[in-house]
Amino acid sequence: MDKKTVFSAIQPTGSIHIGNYLGAVKNWCKLQDEYNCYFAIADLHSLTTSLNSAASLLRSNIFDMYCMLLACGLNTSQCTFFCQSGVVQHSQLAWVLNCYTQYGEAKRMTQFKDKSQKNSDNVNVGLFAYPILQAADILLYNAHYVPIGIDQKQHLELSRNIAERFNQRYSPTFNVPDLLIPKVGAKIFSLTEPLQKMSKSDENLNSYILLTDDNDTIVRKIKRAVTDSGDRIEYSKDKPGLSNLLSIYCAFSECSPAKVVDIFESASYAQLKEELSALVVAHLEPIRTEYQRLKLEKTFIKRCMEEGADKACHTAKKMLDKVYKKVGLM
Ligand code: TYM
Repeated sequence: MDKKTVFSAIQPTGSIHIGNYLGAVKNWCKLQDEYNCYFAIADLHSLTTSLNSAASLLRSNIFDMYCMLLACGLNTSQCTFFCQSGVVQHSQLAWVLNCYTQYGEAKRMTQFKDKSQKNSDNVNVGLFAYPILQAADILLYNAHYVPIGIDQKQHLELSRNIAERFNQRYSPTFNVPDLLIPKVGAKIFSLTEPLQKMSKSDENLNSYILLTDDNDTIVRKIKRAVTDSGDRIEYSKDKPGLSNLLSIYCAFSECSPAKVVDIFESASYAQLKEELSALVVAHLEPIRTEYQRLKLEKTFIKRCMEEGADKACHTAKKMLDKVYKKVGLM
């Protein structure tokens, strides 16, 4: 039987944090065996926020992200792994889909509202059309599933609406993709403000753990993480800081929340933090070492990127041809 298709992507923001890893990338690695997987570095999306940064920075961030995802476990012989800008059909399909998306529905996207507020000096049209390019990414490969963190849910719903509308207007063309979110780790919160999502754009460097952080930094950040009053280890709405640490423990250890609460039943907050630090360090250290090694393999990485883009192009071209034909383009 044919394998179902999975698509997901990540922006090249330098290093990734444990939110990206637990919410998305760790699952991508697991899905490679079972599904026909396409994973992309969403470098075109990054242009929406790179007005004042140097071209060389974006270039090195793309390269670093490619190395990082390989270090995390993406395997180019099991999945198609490429940079979005290397497959021209992404922007071509995005243009067509722009014309099948209403201004009002794009305007409702909360990420657009948040980003426009945060970067009021650069509210560009690309930022507005961002989720439609994301829909093109997904629909181009006819994905059945999209593994993402919860913050991307609204964008996925828009992709589904666009696919349904197009299918109705013409004839069945796109699969209507489903979201795949992990049971734990779909939303990792800031270590310093546990009601906020963990995010690289946070000015407080202690609020997130990067996959490139060294062991001492990881231990220090977890030690400083905000916990709540009381001393009982439990999941609770009133204890967002503690609940976040427990979720991180669950996601790394792959133990159920109930089991983790059991393990730490009679432990102190300090003991939980110590155990969590040891777990995170043990998990991330080999990834970091592999990442450093891959960064030196420039020719190999460039070849993987080119081969990935060629493979992706092959599928993307067929879908774009089909769409052009359906809408009446020559
Ligand atoms: P990006 O680069 O912001 O994030 C990549 C993935 O990480 C997840 N994520 C989190 N998960 C849990 N906790 C967090 N604190 C956390 N922060 C981020 C995100 O949900 C995402 O899965 N627009 C997308 C990239 C993209 C894309 C696509 C994704 C472009 N095209 C097509 C899916 C399908 C983005 O900026 O993700």
